[in-house]
Amino acid sequence: MTARELLARCEDAARTYGRGPAAVVAVHGADCQVLSGDRIAVTGPSGSGKSTLLHLLAGLERPTSGRVSWPGLGDAADTARRIGVVFQGPSLIPALDVAENAELPLVLAGLPQEQARHRAMEALLLVGAAGLAAKLPEELSGGQAQRVAVARVLALRPRLILADEPTGQLDRASGQHVVDVLLAAADGIGAAVVITTHDPAVARRLNSQWAMHEGRLLPAPAPDPRSGPGTPAPDPRSGAPSSPQAEPTPLGDER
Ligand SMILES: Nc1ncnc2c1ncn2[C@@H]1O[C@H](COP(=O)(O)OP(=O)(O)OP(=O)(O)O)[C@@H](O)[C@H]1O
Ligand SMILES: [Mg+2]
Repeated sequence: MTARELLARCEDAARTYGRGPAAVVAVHGADCQVLSGDRIAVTGPSGSGKSTLLHLLAGLERPTSGRVSWPGLGDAADTARRIGVVFQGPSLIPALDVAENAELPLVLAGLPQEQARHRAMEALLLVGAAGLAAKLPEELSGGQAQRVAVARVLALRPRLILADEPTGQLDRASGQHVVDVLLAAADGIGAAVVITTHDPAVARRLNSQWAMHEGRLLPAPAPDPRSGPGTPAPDPRSGAPSSPQAEPTPLGDER
């Protein structure tokens, strides 16, 4: 059995927007970690800090106090390359067609155009969107656009995928399909996944749930009375066992 790697860790990480009386604490000191193989849903009401926590884990926002680190993802340049983010809103570039959108991060990372196109097409195939390659974003349905956004992330072959409400704009069936595609593709490339969602049906598809409330990452989600006795919910601070073999990793023990 291979040991699970610590990919990302928040230690008392907080994010405040604004100053003085107008300051909003979007995330209070959060302690959590993501291990390779994890499948984590972050749930909580609108405004509870889910996106902010995800942006902290992505390195897109800096904590105003505390620390976020990526022990298993190499140095800063590697880290950026090894984290793929699916954003909450529409994120495709309108003037580029689907294939150009999917290959863009690779081209920007310096990959030769031909290789970038090859990997982008592979990723589009994985999400069942290869037939859309020549279309412009305005010609896509919401579900198709989200699948392309997922493909753009998969083309990078990241070790960690952070998806912010990837199904938020979709009906239940399209949303389930996007999540199916995301999880299957993440299995294929061996990436850990963290998804924020309002949809309990989406959250149930993942092995672990982190709940947020008013900027606080709750130590452990309340047990679902409908699920009956079973495996106790893992604490965000101790990793998220995603399979019976998974070993929770206590904070401070990176390997
Ligand atoms: N750039 C910003 N400037 C100021 N306040 C912000 C900013 N981003 C988020 N906030 C505030 O931080 C809090 C948490 O926002 P966040 O977007 O993380 O919540 P969320 O749980 O993702 O909500 P939703 O479910 O609606 O997406 C909110 O009160 C929000 O208004
Ligand atoms: Mg959000």
